Amino acid sequence: MTVPESLYAVQIRLLMLLSPPRLFSKISKLDWYRKILHTWVDAYLDARSMRVLDVGCATGYLTKYVFSKGHQVSGVDVSRRMISRAKKENSTTAIDFKLCNEKELPFQKGSIDLVLSASVINITSNPAEFAEQVFRVCKHDGIVSFLYPVSGFTDADLHRSVRELGISGFSKAALMAWHRSAPKLLINEVEQLLLEAGFEQIKSKQFFQGMVVSVSAKKIG
Ligand SMILES: C[S@@+](CC[C@H](N)C(=O)[O-])C[C@H]1O[C@@H](n2cnc3c(N)ncnc32)[C@H](O)[C@@H]1O
Repeated sequence: MTVPESLYAVQIRLLMLLSPPRLFSKISKLDWYRKILHTWVDAYLDARSMRVLDVGCATGYLTKYVFSKGHQVSGVDVSRRMISRAKKENSTTAIDFKLCNEKELPFQKGSIDLVLSASVINITSNPAEFAEQVFRVCKHDGIVSFLYPVSGFTDADLHRSVRELGISGFSKAALMAWHRSAPKLLINEVEQLLLEAGFEQIKSKQFFQGMVVSVSAKKIG
């Protein structure tokens, strides 16, 4: 029996309301989601072992992926339920999951080589403070990269991508829900935040046919 697409949309809305950790666990199994995250972070993961921080780790899919590449990794999130599920799903690893509040990343100044944060800069209530906190914890020559859905990608663009990539069912509904409900930012808004926090060498890159971008930068000297 084929499930009507509208039922997947209802399932996603219900999960978002009742159990965001379950929804994120389901989403983290989708091909498009994994492909975006892997392509994004693979560009930063060197052969040397790095100290990596994943801010807004949710149930820890990306955190575990980075850990599997041989890095020392911490995942932080403001949601107690997300952190609890992340710990449960990764109980056999040495990943350090921590609850953190909006205002303070619980790490020492200059202690992190690479800060990754997917879909947080566009939802946090104080993005400038967030960028400053990230600057504080980065080592000299440390890198930050924010991934988020970019302003200007339209419904028509998304429908074309979904058709071209042959995405359907729950996978399509999750993508649509993300596109429709996530706040979006311009590339230069995030570039400006990073410059004002003290970062240099700002670069941006598009993913998923332009729906998502990363803006990265380096803490020099
Ligand atoms: C849209 S989800 C993205 C989850 C994951 N990074 C991903 O890309 O799948 C945003 C996550 O960030 C968390 N979050 C929101 N604001 C945060 C903040 N200021 N510091 C840490 N986590 C935050 C939320 O609880 C949620 O788990």
